Amino acid sequence: MSVEGHAREQWGTRIGLVLAMAGNAVGLGNFLRFPVQAAQNGGGTFMIPYFISFLLLGIPMMWIEWGIGRYGGAHGHGTVPGMFDVLTDRKMKWAKYLGILGVVMPLVVFIYYTYVASWMLGFSFFSLTGDFFGLDGVDEMRSYLYSYQNIFESSSHGGWIALLFFIITIGFLAWVLSRGISAGIEKLALVGMPILFLFAFLLVVRVLTLPAVEAAPAEGLNFIWNPDWRSLGNAKVWLAAAGQMFFTLSIGMGCIQTYASYLRKRDDITLTGLSTAATNEFAEVVLGGTIAIPAAVVFFGVAGATAIANRGSYDLGIVAMGVVFQGLPGPQILGQLAAFLWFFLLFIAGVTSCVALASPTLAFLQEEMGMTRRNAARVVAGLGLVLGMFHVVFYQKGVLGEWDYWAGTFGLVLFATIEIILFSFVFGIDRGWEELHKGADIRIPRIYKPIMKWVTPLFLITLLSWWSVTEAFPKVLMRGVDSGDVPYLWLARLLMLALLAIGLVLLKRAWARKTSDT
Ligand code: ALA
Repeated sequence: MSVEGHAREQWGTRIGLVLAMAGNAVGLGNFLRFPVQAAQNGGGTFMIPYFISFLLLGIPMMWIEWGIGRYGGAHGHGTVPGMFDVLTDRKMKWAKYLGILGVVMPLVVFIYYTYVASWMLGFSFFSLTGDFFGLDGVDEMRSYLYSYQNIFESSSHGGWIALLFFIITIGFLAWVLSRGISAGIEKLALVGMPILFLFAFLLVVRVLTLPAVEAAPAEGLNFIWNPDWRSLGNAKVWLAAAGQMFFTLSIGMGCIQTYASYLRKRDDITLTGLSTAATNEFAEVVLGGTIAIPAAVVFFGVAGATAIANRGSYDLGIVAMGVVFQGLPGPQILGQLAAFLWFFLLFIAGVTSCVALASPTLAFLQEEMGMTRRNAARVVAGLGLVLGMFHVVFYQKGVLGEWDYWAGTFGLVLFATIEIILFSFVFGIDRGWEELHKGADIRIPRIYKPIMKWVTPLFLITLLSWWSVTEAFPKVLMRGVDSGDVPYLWLARLLMLALLAIGLVLLKRAWARKTSDT
């Protein structure tokens, strides 16, 4: 029971919690986004701002979000609006309205992310059936993917095929979510995460033992790790590194807070939080960095792999890898199996993050709107399906990229900035520090106290200002966008704003009801 008298769900076991939090963080970002970001931003040079971002943004924000989540949960709130309300001692009425970003943004990401995760299920199936085997050139494989992503182009796939895998994925997620925290999300992580790590290890071994075609695998590792010091002074590299840190650790999204709200009041967060962040970094840097790029370098050489990485994550992770698996030595079935390991690994990484992204909306509907978990899961899945159709139908217009930019990149930094100011200055760093150490298994190094109070907020404000000037304003004005796509991107923005407006209205009504009940 929480102090406010509501029975709240809880995690069943510590290992289940660690795996669920790791599942939250380890996602498509680790295996698809990271290698491309690293390759596009100078390989080894990217890693320096990346590790600095890990130490000064990732780790402190992760502890703060675990702390805010556990504190909110103890007061009966599983989502950020209620958490911001208690964090400001219910004195700043506007804080909860800012908190709605921590419900709407993960919902927006959930919708498009689930669609992308469903592609991985589709490609796992095509790997087992050998459907794309025979399309062994990059251009053929790209057309095959294009036909999958574009329902109006049926050279390789009927328009319904992407929709079919999307419906299956949403159905599966609805089932997991309706089972609850311990019997649904935790079980999925307990089964899924060991399989994900096993598949990733098998693929790493396979990639590292590949015979050289255009280049040896070691050249691929060298390419991703060899620093080009000139780009260290390049603001773009720093922005990319910080953006990757947010996305990969799921910071600034609202889902760590919801997961942490299911902790008990004195459950450790310092060591457990650190372990899950370390697990994510291992999955990203060691495993994610050793599969797609080195494999592409073996088959296309460094220049070829760079050109592919520059076209984006799907070109590397789906198109290039699709060609790589067809070129593996040995009978075709081994290539099909390796392709299955890759795409199914991505599917598991995707769905364990999808359930985390859905959980703030689910908790909001249950706790603030009084729905049963089952009904809340139905609503979330229904929203995912209906709004996901927008991406299924208009993917080629760039609507997914538009949502990803505002809710999955820029919005995360904005939200984290609001959050750390409330934590360090309104709740107060002294109270916050004490709160983080309740039931702690390790003490956080003291240096992190001034970091949380000054360094991280300043880092975030600098990032936000830099980003606004160099990227967000040109993006708002849609500079460089094909004029045919402009109306669709406006529609994409309006849909996000409509979700935000609905969230605000529901929140206002929920609070009005609470006040009249007390
Ligand atoms: N943290 C999740 C990922 O990396 C969202 O994909």
